[in-house]
Amino acid sequence: MKLQWLRLLAWGMACLLRVHPVAADEPKNHDLDVIREESKVPPYRLPPVLVSAEGRPITDPQDWFQNRRPQLIALFGNLLYGVVPSPEVPVRTTTELLKTDRRFLGGQATRKDVQLRFHNARGEVDLRILVITPNGSGKPSPVFLLHSFSGTRDDGHDPHPERPGFLRNGVPIQELLQRGFGLVVVPQSDLVRHNEVEFLKGIHPLFYREGQSFPQSYEWGVISAVAWGGSRAMDYLESDTDVDARRVAILGHSKLGKAALWTAAQDTRFALVISAQSGCAGAALWKRDFGENMEKMVTRFPYWLCRNAARFARNEADLPIDQHELLACIAPRPLYVASGAEDLWADPVGEYLSAHHASEVYRLLGKKGLDSPTPPPVGTALTEGDVAYHNRPGGHSVEPYDWRQFLAFAERHLRR
Ligand code: GCU
Repeated sequence: MKLQWLRLLAWGMACLLRVHPVAADEPKNHDLDVIREESKVPPYRLPPVLVSAEGRPITDPQDWFQNRRPQLIALFGNLLYGVVPSPEVPVRTTTELLKTDRRFLGGQATRKDVQLRFHNARGEVDLRILVITPNGSGKPSPVFLLHSFSGTRDDGHDPHPERPGFLRNGVPIQELLQRGFGLVVVPQSDLVRHNEVEFLKGIHPLFYREGQSFPQSYEWGVISAVAWGGSRAMDYLESDTDVDARRVAILGHSKLGKAALWTAAQDTRFALVISAQSGCAGAALWKRDFGENMEKMVTRFPYWLCRNAARFARNEADLPIDQHELLACIAPRPLYVASGAEDLWADPVGEYLSAHHASEVYRLLGKKGLDSPTPPPVGTALTEGDVAYHNRPGGHSVEPYDWRQFLAFAERHLRR
């Protein structure tokens, strides 16, 4: 009898202990349906971008490029996005021009459907990209390379039937062409599925070692595979005489904004970078824990990042890097970070602060960053420097306003 009472008492205590923290638990900025408030941002410390992992201050551009930048790329690769392994069997690329339409958009542009086939003894995968370039310019054109949610095998990139000047995917193609830009579309899901969990089809198996059937904890997740595709598209562009491969602006929205940043951070051939509402694992800072956080990301989209990333769920403080350091790896190339005021899940303030802190490296390299620690008012675009930012009214999308800013920024930096 006595023992039973003791058990009951122990059970009651355990319930109390468990209930207590929940009862005292206020809604957090990372919860799904809450009002997110700046006042709830926890105190945090960002890793200093200009101090090496060994604790050595980085004070000159050479030290940055030779030591700190490669160190950061390796950390982002091994801890967050996953590195692309060297394949045991070399992966070959066969390029095929599937279709050329010189009379695209009433003859304003040439549209090429290009297939990049990656193959080795382990398999083959096709990445089908579109290359749209203005006609009649007589010289290679600068282009926007778009990491795209929609595929290129259907009509998603045809002219919009009701919005003259736009493609079905919302790209203001007319304006791009008029300003002398082309468009390259790289579909995300030719190489890896949007929310891949098996990694038995697509690009990964070509890179597996004998007997391997899943990426190692530090090997590429979905975003890294999309980024790899962006670089392979760039390999092709270097051989396309309609395109000036030294003037490629890479652009992505949301998940693909994350991918655009990771592509360009690693691959310095991209001349200019734009992320629109890339949020968590994109431009936004992990340590602010505002909107989407690591726990949300690795539970809702388990393998967008590599498996090592999950170690930092509920423990972002322990992550030795933060996203301002990813943006810094893009320096000195022009960078545009765009937010949407209602898209708090992507943390507009965190996106701004990330660009602000990355600016330290832009300054080291003689470029103009975002000096103020205070974000601009909603609807004000800061575009005069090499790091640009706006937070426009509205939510999670790419609007004509965004495109106008991006085009003007690209025109200024890529004009010849
Ligand atoms: C979800 C996800 C984001 C992502 C977005 C998108 O909202 O939480 O991280 O950016 O989908 O890709 O549209």
